[in-house]
Amino acid sequence: MAKITFIQPDGAQLTVDATAGMTVMEAARLNQVPGIEAECGGACACATCHVYVDAAWREKTGKAQAMEEDMLDFAFDVRPESRLSCQMKVTDALDGLVVRVPAKQF
Ligand code: FES
Repeated sequence: MAKITFIQPDGAQLTVDATAGMTVMEAARLNQVPGIEAECGGACACATCHVYVDAAWREKTGKAQAMEEDMLDFAFDVRPESRLSCQMKVTDALDGLVVRVPAKQF
């Protein structure tokens, strides 16, 4: 089990419980986190699950793989800390993860 905090562009925060093995996107959708649209359902084919990983967590979440990088090209306001939340698997090591939701998804 890991707690994940999603911070909205206006600073509002929502911390949700996630189970190891699910993705960060699935945790967001299960808990109706605003701004995570995930239109393709996690197939790495839409970029509407884009988040910014907090600096303190970037090492633990790792880097995007090539397919994710390609899809991120379609996301809005991509930054070095950008990831697709459907491509980040929850593990116990991610307990406390903080991600920011972009102002819009496209
Ligand atoms: S849900 Fe579509 S790319 Fe993540």
